[in-house]
Amino acid sequence: MLTPTAAAPDAQAPWALDSWRSCPARQQPAYDDPQALHRALETLGQRPPLVGAERILQLKGLLAEAQQGRRFVLQLGDCAERFDHNDLANTTRQVALLQQMSQVLMHGLQLPVIQVGRLAGQYAKPRSGDMEDRHGVSLPVYRGDSVNGHAFDAAARRADPQRLLQSHGHSARTLDHLHTLQEAGIDNLLLDERWSLAWLEQAQDQARLRPFLSQVHGTLRFMRTLAGSQPGEFLHREMYISHEALLLEYEQALTRQHTDGRWFNLATHWPWVGLRTAQPEGAHVEYLRGVANPLAVKVGVDTDPAQLRQLLAQLNPGNEPGRLTLIHRMGAANLQAHLGRLIDTVNAADAKVLWLCDPMHGNTRSLPCGTKTRAFDDILAEIAAAFTVHARHGSRLGGLHLEASGDDVSECLGGAVGLQPADLGRRYLSQVDPRLNRDQALELAARVSLDAHAWQQCP
Ligand code: PEP
Ligand code: CO
Repeated sequence: MLTPTAAAPDAQAPWALDSWRSCPARQQPAYDDPQALHRALETLGQRPPLVGAERILQLKGLLAEAQQGRRFVLQLGDCAERFDHNDLANTTRQVALLQQMSQVLMHGLQLPVIQVGRLAGQYAKPRSGDMEDRHGVSLPVYRGDSVNGHAFDAAARRADPQRLLQSHGHSARTLDHLHTLQEAGIDNLLLDERWSLAWLEQAQDQARLRPFLSQVHGTLRFMRTLAGSQPGEFLHREMYISHEALLLEYEQALTRQHTDGRWFNLATHWPWVGLRTAQPEGAHVEYLRGVANPLAVKVGVDTDPAQLRQLLAQLNPGNEPGRLTLIHRMGAANLQAHLGRLIDTVNAADAKVLWLCDPMHGNTRSLPCGTKTRAFDDILAEIAAAFTVHARHGSRLGGLHLEASGDDVSECLGGAVGLQPADLGRRYLSQVDPRLNRDQALELAARVSLDAHAWQQCP
């Protein structure tokens, strides 16, 4: 993070599409063939954009409303998407989960929900080390499918520039899936239409959860009846895509100038910068400050007020509503001690910031066998504490950022379904961080809906 001696970046300095190259860029792959990289980037620069400026600005407008407390954001998806899981069935499950959780949250929070997938481009991962050692063999770490392969062999782990092109191709394919689903009307699901709520049977407090979920279901059914042949008019919610803007070569190649002179990242509606690359003097912040998209930045227990003030000045110098989102990810045990000073810093600067809680990345732990997991109760506890601390500091939690799968995976512990360490081997598909499965995720949405109001009233 920011060292006391680091020069404070100048938010007024001129920006250019490649000005990030003169700043330290962390987490970039080491390509061994610069010519091949150059050729891949040239090709990528001629590929069509994945999204359009109009919808990017539309999202920015919605995020501005969320920042004013008039909407809530649900941003959700895999830690890392996989090329080999990119089929229509998988996208369908992700969209169904996002949609059903949104419906539950809308009912409970009484706010429209902005649906955002960690989707159609979430292929690059920051890692804590450069090398991975196994049984005396040391190889470069897996950095996501847009960089190298997951298999532990030298050929797979080599950073391959062709993967940047494949990443664009897979993102385009996922977007095609989204359009197919929209045409098929999957954006009008009723609550139990896609999978059953059998997990409720196992919830100890089902007497409390069941009437709430029946009410959600009843309301949706009534709306569908009201809407007659055009339920889309009532239930339709447009979805947006987001990913971590990690590989700056890739992001630059898909950043294009609009006729009005502004630059847009057209690889995604909503790029975010991860905790490991959020240094105010770093290349990621330098790149992002020049694009007109809405931006998000992860903040954690080590983010200090001085650093946060610099980020606010660089990424949103005009204090434009909807422009900047801060996603705090601290861990249930740390949030009470660390979130307040960040909120106070934002309030003191009178900065228009949308706050999201990522209750996943501060709650990761390894079991004795080495498996990475997260516990449902920790995730829920961090969300509860976030609502409370925001209310206490005169602020508002505007949304959730989750790693979750619409598939029946076994990666996180607990929930009503009571996943135990011994269950995790059954269907652990993530190659990076553990995700809530569909039952755990729906349960989380139901519990947040039921209790958010009370959490905000806590002294
Ligand atoms: C992530 O979102 O997968 C991630 C790596 O998060 P963070 O930057 O918060 O560690
Ligand atoms: Co992750």
